[in-house]
Amino acid sequence: MYISKIGLENFRNYEKQELNIAEGLNIFIGNNAQGKTNVIESIYVSSIGKSFRTNIDREMIKMNMPNGKVQIEYFKNDKNNKIDILFEQEKTKQVKLNGIKLDKLSQVVGNVQTVLFSPDELQVLKQLPGVRRKFFDISISQTKPMYVYYILEYNKVLKQRNALLKQIKYDRSLIDTIDIWDEKLVNAGMLLINNRTKYVEKINEKITKRHLYISDNKEELILKYIPSCKDKTIFERKLKDNLDIDIQNGYTGYGPHKDDYSFYINGILLNKFGSQGQQRSGILSYKLAEIDNLYEEYGEKPILLLDDVTSELDKNRIEKLLENIAGYQTIITCTDIENFKVLSGYKLFNVESGKVMEV
Ligand SMILES: Nc1ncnc2c1ncn2[C@@H]1O[C@H](COP(=O)(O)OP(=O)(O)OP(=O)(O)O)[C@@H](O)[C@H]1O
Ligand SMILES: [Mg+2]
Repeated sequence: MYISKIGLENFRNYEKQELNIAEGLNIFIGNNAQGKTNVIESIYVSSIGKSFRTNIDREMIKMNMPNGKVQIEYFKNDKNNKIDILFEQEKTKQVKLNGIKLDKLSQVVGNVQTVLFSPDELQVLKQLPGVRRKFFDISISQTKPMYVYYILEYNKVLKQRNALLKQIKYDRSLIDTIDIWDEKLVNAGMLLINNRTKYVEKINEKITKRHLYISDNKEELILKYIPSCKDKTIFERKLKDNLDIDIQNGYTGYGPHKDDYSFYINGILLNKFGSQGQQRSGILSYKLAEIDNLYEEYGEKPILLLDDVTSELDKNRIEKLLENIAGYQTIITCTDIENFKVLSGYKLFNVESGKVMEV
């Protein structure tokens, strides 16, 4: 699949901008703070339904403006499609697919498949487990859009159980009502655990293959999912065993909202013992595997978003990355074209103060 057009209106530092995107390579070049990442963000939000930089949608509206718009035209299965997003100051954003308003915002996921390479994501192994859960949740939801609903449902039940725990602390007689929430939490939670398990099983072979290439056949990379519990009975029992502590804390201390993931290189825990470079290479290999996985799942090539990768990857890793993305529509941002000179046949855009010019 590929994007043919992007339209921005009062989005970030853009007032009005139309872009004709090439089917292959697109390079956006410009100094810092000119609006390069903003272009990537507009594509990402049309793909994932939210930004990778903020959870507050109205931050994407151009300052002092009542609303902002993003329009993406794309080809998929040889058909022309359109996604329109309207951001308004006081309302939740509205999304239209081919002119028809989506009832649920989460429905936007699964239409435009993208794989993002950003400086922040390359550092995901150094972050707290919550950041990694979100990172993998986004990947899983792209291959299985229903997963977005499973997360929303789980979070809703978790919030309700936590609210009840707080009430029980002051009114012990409510304790009998916890069972119903435990059951709901276990059911919603098992959907997350099963999907996470399946996803990791499926992608592992691709990760190992990609990383052997990235590391010149030196390293075997494996992703491990570390679930808070492996099966339903353990989950149920843990909730019962920990009930007093949970009531004390007013918070559920057990469940998939505590899951984590780690990578192992040649049997060594990469999150803890890997060098910075190894960790970045590991994520790079994972991202390449994600591309393979989406391609396999949909039979359409996902769109690659390479935001400022030269700030986190050295020359050697950049070259490896570029060798692997031939044939995919790719949007690259950079301040310096030097590292991308090896590429040919790209379309070049100059970005300056919220204006893009084709070169
Ligand atoms: N809501 C907004 N309204 C207006 N301008 C905004 C808004 N949000 C961000 N900006 C501006 O957008 C610019 C940053 O754009 P962007 O992050 O795309 O830069 P960049 O070209 O990727 O820079 P770098 O090379 O440093 O990554 C900044 O000047 C910032 O002030
Ligand atoms: Mg940037």
